[in-house]
Amino acid sequence: MITVTEAFKKFRSRLELTDREQDDASRRHNEIRDYLKTKFDIERDFLTGSYKRWTKTKPLKDVDIFCVLGKKERHRRDKPPADLLKAFEDALVEKYGRDKVSRQRRSVMIEFGVKPDADEDTGGKVMSFDVVPAFDKNTHYEIPDTTTSSGWTETDPEVHHDLAKKAQDGYDGEWKGIVRMTKKWNAFHGKPVKPSFLIEVMALQLLHPPFRGDYRYEIKGFLASLADRIHETWGDPAKLGPPVSDSMDNSARDAAKSKLLAASDAAARAIQLERQGKNGEALKVWRNEVFGPLFPLS
Ligand SMILES: Nc1ncnc2c1ncn2[C@@H]1O[C@H](COP(=O)(O)OP(=O)(O)OP(=O)(O)O)[C@@H](O)[C@H]1O
Ligand SMILES: [Mg+2]
Repeated sequence: MITVTEAFKKFRSRLELTDREQDDASRRHNEIRDYLKTKFDIERDFLTGSYKRWTKTKPLKDVDIFCVLGKKERHRRDKPPADLLKAFEDALVEKYGRDKVSRQRRSVMIEFGVKPDADEDTGGKVMSFDVVPAFDKNTHYEIPDTTTSSGWTETDPEVHHDLAKKAQDGYDGEWKGIVRMTKKWNAFHGKPVKPSFLIEVMALQLLHPPFRGDYRYEIKGFLASLADRIHETWGDPAKLGPPVSDSMDNSARDAAKSKLLAASDAAARAIQLERQGKNGEALKVWRNEVFGPLFPLS
């Protein structure tokens, strides 16, 4: 039987992007860009968000693509943000169909109808993309945001990228792996922490270097710290956008806290079982109560 340490190593590598997934993301990116360029004046476009930073969990979905609009689209900045999103939505519906396209707070999502199997494997396919129309603003961007009063959010993906890289370097190259694992916990439990970017933002402050070399204790401690501080306001690390924690009201935070505490307790129990020599039972607790089917039993 596999040891818990080996299981964590395997789990960690299962959460890495594979070559096939990157090829599929790149193929979809080109396809979406080529199509949208026939509809809008798009100056440049790039993959961004957690996909670009390697903090995305599995199965691979909601890959963010920024479409930076050119001069001919500038007039759209003076109209409501929902109009811009609607224009992108209408264009994408034309290509992908009504049932595959939906409008969100800051983006338009395209689902490709990919269904993961029981082991959460998509066969290297990306499940969905989030298309984000953006305007240049100084050295960063402005994107529609239908839930803020101004209707627009300033954002700087490069700052987020650099902060994640710095955290990763200071943490023996394990910071992103821990973020991906914790996002996996979140997805497996029905996304009590919203948005999942909040987990990454909190990790910038709550994971204190150096990495102590043991995922079990890192995860248990991080879940407990998240529970402890989930009621606080967490700002945009680039100090441009609205608080990243603005999607949860108090009762959502209470619910997230209790799930985080339950997960941290389960982690403590798994560690205890392992100490008692009950390896198989420990593996099951990590899988069934914390991470779900991507955590291996063998
Ligand atoms: N409140 C905010 N202010 C400024 N920028 C933000 C804010 N929230 C998100 N962003 C930026 O937009 C990107 C895309 O947002 P999204 O919610 O998809 O997060 P993500 O990091 O890609 O995580 P996920 O794995 O859930 O897709 C983020 O990576 C971040 O760079
Ligand atoms: Mg994203």
